[in-house]
Amino acid sequence: MPLDVESKLLIVDDLPENLLALDALVRGPGRVVFQATSADAALALMLEHEFALAILDVQMPGMNGFELAEMMRSTERTRHIPIIFVSAAGRELDYAFRGYESGAVDFLQKPLDGYVVISKVNVFVDLHRHRKALKHEMDALAEAHRELERAVRMRDDFMSMVSHELRTPLNTLYLETQVRKLHLSRGNMAHFEADKLPAMIERDQRQIHNMVRLIDDMLDVTRLRSGTLSIQPRLFDLSALARGVVESLAQQAEAAGSTIQLIAPAPVEGAWDEFRIEQVLTNLLTNALRYGGGKPVTVEVSTAGSSATMTVSDQGMGIGAEDQERIFEQFERTDDSRKRASGLGLGLFITRQIVRAHGGEVQVRSTLGEGSRFTVSLPLRKA
Ligand SMILES: Nc1ncnc2c1ncn2[C@@H]1O[C@H](COP(=O)(O)OP(=O)(O)O)[C@@H](O)[C@H]1O
Ligand SMILES: [Mg+2]
Repeated sequence: MPLDVESKLLIVDDLPENLLALDALVRGPGRVVFQATSADAALALMLEHEFALAILDVQMPGMNGFELAEMMRSTERTRHIPIIFVSAAGRELDYAFRGYESGAVDFLQKPLDGYVVISKVNVFVDLHRHRKALKHEMDALAEAHRELERAVRMRDDFMSMVSHELRTPLNTLYLETQVRKLHLSRGNMAHFEADKLPAMIERDQRQIHNMVRLIDDMLDVTRLRSGTLSIQPRLFDLSALARGVVESLAQQAEAAGSTIQLIAPAPVEGAWDEFRIEQVLTNLLTNALRYGGGKPVTVEVSTAGSSATMTVSDQGMGIGAEDQERIFEQFERTDDSRKRASGLGLGLFITRQIVRAHGGEVQVRSTLGEGSRFTVSLPLRKA
């Protein structure tokens, strides 16, 4: 049970010297004592604070202790506060107060016996602390349960997304093989002529490549989560790497009705993980082609101070300000992009993690409907 559960005690008596004496008795670590010299003042305090216990003097001018208890019973906020009545008149107290909601009612007689007061108050304070601790645990349990449900839902969503993403290239490949089988069974060898084969193999490779990328992305996410994604720095020229990536994406650009312009006038040498940086640029460029609306895409490589900078700009759909941070998280995509293209929403997450693992940063600037500009900066240290 957490010990930091604070118990507030309220003592009500019209005589300040009685309050003083009582206060001294009930005070203790983890307790805060509030004093009131009238029923009105007591009620005002009760509306403001949550009390573990109220100790009420029965004989008070104006509203007496029993009347105050009646008032407390009529309000939800005060209904459950345990009460100890204090009175000089001994016997007649026994019948005094019935039907108090909490059932937690006790009595003390004047003159007060210090030992009795302390032990009774302790009982109520302990009860209150237990209740609070229990409620705390129940809340934590409920939250853990909600968290778990969220995780399960996320896993289910993930599985169905992955299945869908793998299904698409697999279906295409499957269809291709069906068609080929049909042609074979009919002896239609024209279908397999030398001039047709390169394109056929190209198509197959593209589908296979898509699936491999997807699986690699998932493996990378797993590695990132477990902190085992390794970075192996080696000296290389970022401009040359960009040239290679742009070339390898030429076909994809054409398919998207777009072109990629590379502005990399000078070599930019640094020690980074070449394979991972290639992955970063490929991710950004694939996005620019995918969400760039068929408009030209530009890649720029340069140095600025102690950093190498690589930017990928497009003139496509853009990203609203409210989405610009979250798209770097796993599975996060904009609603617009969901309508336009399939995807798992892992690319930018992986990209940012790789860049950060190099001690760099990736940022986006974008205006909805006008385009996006992703900037990667990497520290320019030598191997
Ligand atoms: N160049 C871009 N233009 C517009 N939106 C983009 C661009 N790049 C990324 N996004 C948004 O960020 C989301 C996450 O990107 P990413 O992690 O690469 O996942 P995916 O490419 O699988 O959708 C995309 O789904 C899209 O909503
Ligand atoms: Mg992507």
